[in-house]
Amino acid sequence: MKVIPLGPGFAAEVRGAGLADVAERDDAYAGVRAAFEEHSVLLFRGQHITEEVQVAYSRRFGPLEIAKVASRGEGTPFSILTNIEPDGSLVPPDHKEALRAKANQLWHTDSCFKDPPALASVLCAPIIPPSGGETEFASQRRAWERLPEAMRARLADAYAWHDYAHSRGKIAPHLASERERNALPPVRWRMRWRNPVNGRDSLYIASHTYAIDGMSKDEGQTLIAQLIEHATALGHTWRHTWQPGDIIMWDNRCVLHRGRPWADDKPRRVVRTTITATDADGLAEMRWEKTAA
Ligand SMILES: [Fe+2]
Repeated sequence: MKVIPLGPGFAAEVRGAGLADVAERDDAYAGVRAAFEEHSVLLFRGQHITEEVQVAYSRRFGPLEIAKVASRGEGTPFSILTNIEPDGSLVPPDHKEALRAKANQLWHTDSCFKDPPALASVLCAPIIPPSGGETEFASQRRAWERLPEAMRARLADAYAWHDYAHSRGKIAPHLASERERNALPPVRWRMRWRNPVNGRDSLYIASHTYAIDGMSKDEGQTLIAQLIEHATALGHTWRHTWQPGDIIMWDNRCVLHRGRPWADDKPRRVVRTTITATDADGLAEMRWEKTAA
């Protein structure tokens, strides 16, 4: 297995081991797991695999999230983002799925608004537009390291609130339905996630983050916006242009990502499996009840 670095201090392509190998072999899993802990974003090429292989691969890393609301694929391990209707037509630009795609274009980390949050996402893109629709990443570890020491000290024991409805509200006021709001109440996490394997810290915030404990609403939101801008500054991101057979896995503890726009009249379908974080992934230390109370 070869691991070839791609981005500015994070992201790498894995060659010589594919998703089916990891699903079947302990040694392949161990190699890819180590690369995941180190590089945060992994690209696999030429993976023309079934949904079953995507699930078997993902299960190696931990329990899978079952999509409950706010996604096509509800009740399954697949979260599906597409502008294609079941009859093959494309949704209009004001359709809920088109607005969701817009919300997905805000810098975020998957499922920080859930308890438990996500360890990782595995994304395949079976239908890609001829241009646009890329996925962009930024390392929250690198962002943490670039912060002034005083800011790191301030954030290390700070707690922030995350809410699905908050990020959706930036696109359209009622994009998150009553049912989604009820199923996804706000959650609080520490703002620094420490990786238990290598001890590296990362900043844990996203477009879903709406408040910081001990700060006024305005103060908190200003700081959150500044931190996201800092994390995603020019020269610190890596953009992936999808090709058929590509699969990307990323570490939601320590990278932000966003989709890029594409033409409304071009079909796109991406399918994600999401792996839930456990205490072995450093989750226990993220909880306010266990650490700050
Ligand atoms: Fe996402």
